[in-house]
Amino acid sequence: MTTVADFEPWSADVARDLVAGIAQGPGPGLLCLQAIQDRFGYVPADAVGLVAEACNVSRADVHGVFTFYSDLRSTPPPAIPVRLCAAEACQAVGGRELQRDWRRACQAAPDLADATGVDEPIFCLGNCALGPAAMVGRTLIGRASVESITLAVRAHTQGSGS
Ligand code: FES
Repeated sequence: MTTVADFEPWSADVARDLVAGIAQGPGPGLLCLQAIQDRFGYVPADAVGLVAEACNVSRADVHGVFTFYSDLRSTPPPAIPVRLCAAEACQAVGGRELQRDWRRACQAAPDLADATGVDEPIFCLGNCALGPAAMVGRTLIGRASVESITLAVRAHTQGSGS
């Protein structure tokens, strides 16, 4: 399971080296932004200009790509990110209720909320047959419930997450 501890602190010099090779390939803007997020956990505002320069496109072009893809984030992730699927197939099998119940669970357990941050909805995790689906760090959970999500978070907190 990937958590914030797995990411490096932001460094423009490291990011510049990281995107230098990617920027020469096809469709480099998104690939550069994804590489930066994979490395640092998020895409800081400074990275937009850096990617634009590397790819020889405008900042507006890179900003447009950045804002189009909801998986790209501009702030560091919480220690153990929890994302609940908000797409149709999961909504049909209780996704909205799970979101509501998860919010309530976090309100009742501040340590849980501190560790997982605010749930950021995601639109389809490719696990539609086992909805509602959730992602805890990079662990996919099918037929998710507050209990199974909490167990995954606690497992990671105790160092046994996968
Ligand atoms: S709709 Fe939720 S995983 Fe596809």
